[in-house]
Amino acid sequence: MQELTELLAAAPGRIDAVGDLESLEALERELIGRESVIATMRRSLGSLPPEERPVVGARLNEAFTRIRELLAERRAALERAAEDQLLEEERVDVTLPLVDVPVGHRHLLSQTLDEVIDIFVSLGYAVARGPEVETSYYNFDALNTPPTHPARLESDTLYVDWGEPEDELVLRTHTSPMQIRYMETHQPPVYVVVPGRVYRADTLDATHSPVFNQVEGLAVDADITMADLKGTLAAFMRAFFGKERTVRLLPHFFPFTEPSAEMHVSCFNCDGSGCRVCSNTGWIELLGCGMVDPNVFEAVGYDPAAVSGFAFGVGVDRLALVRHGINHIKHLYENDLRVLEQF
Ligand code: PHE
Repeated sequence: MQELTELLAAAPGRIDAVGDLESLEALERELIGRESVIATMRRSLGSLPPEERPVVGARLNEAFTRIRELLAERRAALERAAEDQLLEEERVDVTLPLVDVPVGHRHLLSQTLDEVIDIFVSLGYAVARGPEVETSYYNFDALNTPPTHPARLESDTLYVDWGEPEDELVLRTHTSPMQIRYMETHQPPVYVVVPGRVYRADTLDATHSPVFNQVEGLAVDADITMADLKGTLAAFMRAFFGKERTVRLLPHFFPFTEPSAEMHVSCFNCDGSGCRVCSNTGWIELLGCGMVDPNVFEAVGYDPAAVSGFAFGVGVDRLALVRHGINHIKHLYENDLRVLEQF
């Protein structure tokens, strides 16, 4: 009994002194476990005289229950503390500044190409793409360009392979070869635009790059006229540069269109009064166009008496440069982030 009283008196202090769950378990084993003093005493109750057994038994139970309660309280307190510590460690400080993750976007040229294509798609045009390495047949011959035409010279055209005339390979100098490829594989009516890279033996300067982008347009139907050409391109220019723009057609020459023209748009920057963007002319030249030459229809097996059509080729780089007042075409190809981030 003496031992039990001492044990009970010391228990609260010992339990309170425990700082972690593992030590608490060890102490629990020591105080009320199978080998503990209390358990041992319980087991030897039978050796006491029968009249003492209930008294001692009751004392033992009381001590056991009391110690178990104290242990449970301490365990709960330790578990709460552990949880608080975990929460504190894993706390997210939502007021911390974010790491600045740079977000990319489409290149100005891709944006401009998409915009041009979208305008023509809204007018009912299909979209096609073709090879950048072309045969001279598609790049020149089928487009009614005679063997002696100066555009074929090495000073203008980049040759990949001379070979025999029929398998001579060039980097396409325009997107017009796709007129031929598309008509070879489609019957009229044809309404199609062809975006793509083209190449010329030009030295890089403010307005020329040996690689640039065009969008070709081709419309072939029962009775397409020059008025359709002008109306379609005027609608395009208004959609791209704004409602206030006017356009004009100037006579020009291309082997594959007759008549041929250049389209100018009134300067969006000065509204035609003359400024740096339009070299003081009030107009900006943006594309070549014309009525499809009957010889081109014959090359693809269309009947020139039954169909007519118009074609145009617009310089996409030019569109991007003039609209944003960019003063050198190299900015579209050098991928300087300080430039690209502005668009
Ligand atoms: N292919 C011509 C060029 O690159 C543009 C053009 C296309 C002209 C279609 C008329 C018709 O200069």
